[in-house]
Amino acid sequence: MRVLLTGGAGFIGRHVEDQLVAGGHEVVVYDSFRPDVHAQRPEPRPGLIVGDVRDRETLASALHGIDTVIHLAAKVGLGVDLDDLDDYVSSNSLGTAVLLKELAHAKIRHLVYASSMVVYGEGRYDCDRHGQVAPEPRRTEDLDAGNFEPPCPVCAAPLRPGLVKEDAVLDPRNAYATSKLSGEHLAQWWVRETGSRVSALRFHNVYGPGMPRNTPYAGVAAIFRSALDRGEAPRVFEDGRQRRDFVHVRDVAAAVTLSAAALPQQPAFTAYNVGSGTVTTIGEIATELSRAYGGPAPVVTGQYRLGDVRHITASSERLKHELGWKPTFDIQTGLTDLLHDR
Ligand code: UD1
Repeated sequence: MRVLLTGGAGFIGRHVEDQLVAGGHEVVVYDSFRPDVHAQRPEPRPGLIVGDVRDRETLASALHGIDTVIHLAAKVGLGVDLDDLDDYVSSNSLGTAVLLKELAHAKIRHLVYASSMVVYGEGRYDCDRHGQVAPEPRRTEDLDAGNFEPPCPVCAAPLRPGLVKEDAVLDPRNAYATSKLSGEHLAQWWVRETGSRVSALRFHNVYGPGMPRNTPYAGVAAIFRSALDRGEAPRVFEDGRQRRDFVHVRDVAAAVTLSAAALPQQPAFTAYNVGSGTVTTIGEIATELSRAYGGPAPVVTGQYRLGDVRHITASSERLKHELGWKPTFDIQTGLTDLLHDR
């Protein structure tokens, strides 16, 4: 394959580039080096184009000779406040729209799109009396009172969280999630218009070497590591029992590479969850990192972020069965790997 890798200088992108090159593919990295993520502009090198996906001319010339595009470029994270709203829509929704338009002009038909588990909103829940239910967004009064679990929307009973599959209802609950889902929808329409193929990979919480440091947009594992580096305790929001699936960045890069290579044999549009299959609580991640680091024990603060969902964990069986993907890192090895990343 000759691949254009947008966001190729980012946390996930650098691992994807390594694996593509190791697999004998040609890679052109396309990255805007946005200053809120990258402290420095890069030295010029062959195979690197500094550009924003919204910049049509630079993008169009970068697409010459490309047969597959992997679109990782995005503004990630939950956002700091409402001032981030238009930047999410512009960077992610508009960015994807411009990319799709230029792919159509260049007659490039194969796209891997980096989506996210956040498109599901609150994950899967079952009520003993009402079966599978979709909880409402959590209410501020409940969160203020320390009631973090979303109740059954019918009888208010406690719910059992479960694993989301790709055909679950999509229900984004913050600006980032909305922008990621709009990218999927735009890609589906592009597929119909052009006869192309897209795999949308819905990443779980990605962690590992190269995670961004000291930014409010970093994932929680990086935030905890930065706290430990400063000699401080990791600060765990809510009661620490919120559930996630932490998937190692090298396993994620393998999923991206595999799905790009499989595109010619794929149906028009396929969504794949990408998670390790191991459910972990944020409190457990904090405890494990503090222990492995030899730092202070975590503090559970009871703080919350309104855009956060309580539990979100997925089944990645489709990716395993259809593409033969297998996660290889367990969380202890993965977190140690993260701590040794200096
Ligand atoms: C993360 C990713 C998002 C990705 C999604 C896929 C980041 C910043 N977010 O979202 O891009 O699409 O996974 O599932 O990488 N928390 C603390 N203390 C802190 C910060 C956070 O306890 O200092 C808690 C949060 O309240 C939340 C959990 O940690 O419950 C995870 O937060 P975060 O790492 O931001 O990830 P997600 O919101 O799950």
